[in-house]
Amino acid sequence: MEDELQRLRGEALVRLDGIDQSGDLEEFRVEYLGRKGLFSGLMKQLGQADPAERPRLGQLANSVKAEVEEAFAARQQALADSAGRESDKGLDISLPGRTVPLGRLHPVTQIMDEVCGIFEGLGFAVAEGPDIETDFYNFEALNIPPHHPARDMHDTFYFSESVLLRTHTSPMQIRAMENKKPPLRMIAPGKVYRCDSDITHTPMFHQVEGFLVDEKVSFADLKGILSIFIARMFDEKTPIRFRPSFFPFTEPSAEVDIGCVICGGSGCRVCKHTGWLEILGSGMIDPEVFKKIGYDPELYTGFAFGLGIERIAMLKYGINDIRLYYENDLRFLRQF
Ligand code: DAH
Repeated sequence: MEDELQRLRGEALVRLDGIDQSGDLEEFRVEYLGRKGLFSGLMKQLGQADPAERPRLGQLANSVKAEVEEAFAARQQALADSAGRESDKGLDISLPGRTVPLGRLHPVTQIMDEVCGIFEGLGFAVAEGPDIETDFYNFEALNIPPHHPARDMHDTFYFSESVLLRTHTSPMQIRAMENKKPPLRMIAPGKVYRCDSDITHTPMFHQVEGFLVDEKVSFADLKGILSIFIARMFDEKTPIRFRPSFFPFTEPSAEVDIGCVICGGSGCRVCKHTGWLEILGSGMIDPEVFKKIGYDPELYTGFAFGLGIERIAMLKYGINDIRLYYENDLRFLRQF
């Protein structure tokens, strides 16, 4: 029995050494270490051994089996390790790479760039100013004194009595005129803020302000520049209408409408069945504004206009809810 144990031990260790596939390893386990395997068979024979010898033989059998089991586990680990290395070797460098998703410009940025590009082409310089403004630049210098009813329309976010988030880009007129003498031909793009939120309003949106100041600037110049802008932004044939309006910082003032781009002027929900869409506010800069920054209103005249980027993008792309721009839903944004 003792010889048989030693023989089986030697045979098992040699077999194990030659195994290089996990399938063969499993076969080995069943044959030697399984419940009906060779070692179990030998253990059963212990019952027939000399009772005096039994404890010693039993101990020997256990230690031999433990040794083989240990060798088996080591072999199993070695096979698993080399399988890992094999799969490294199997790396197929001819497989197509994973494509890196490409980002793109937000539709509001695209329209902003397009608007600025058109005015730059007409000789306007671009200037940017602070989002946090003082009451002076946002209202006072624009001829909107305290308690002026026009303040009501602005739904202002205040930090303090005199510091606020700008409600329009018009304060840039003042900042530019303070620093420069005419002639002036500028646009000021940027974010503006109003405490308002529904399908046509978001608390933050974008405007482009434009202004031109020189000697002998007339309303005809205003009409000329804005007509060119609209022809380039929409279509040569887009109908335009200047409609009298009021802004405290321009006199006279006009809102500019274009023929409805959705229905072509026949009337639809978007144009509220008027056939026209309002796209910007404009006017001749009020002499009161010139006086505030020390320009001679007898010598200089100028025009100004302000337009909302989200609104123009909505009209151009037929988008009916302004909030879509800021929900960051890629299915929406990827369409532009
Ligand atoms: N600041 C105005 C607004 O946000 C828009 C505007 C109207 C700007 C007329 C102008 C202008 O420069 O002349 O509603």
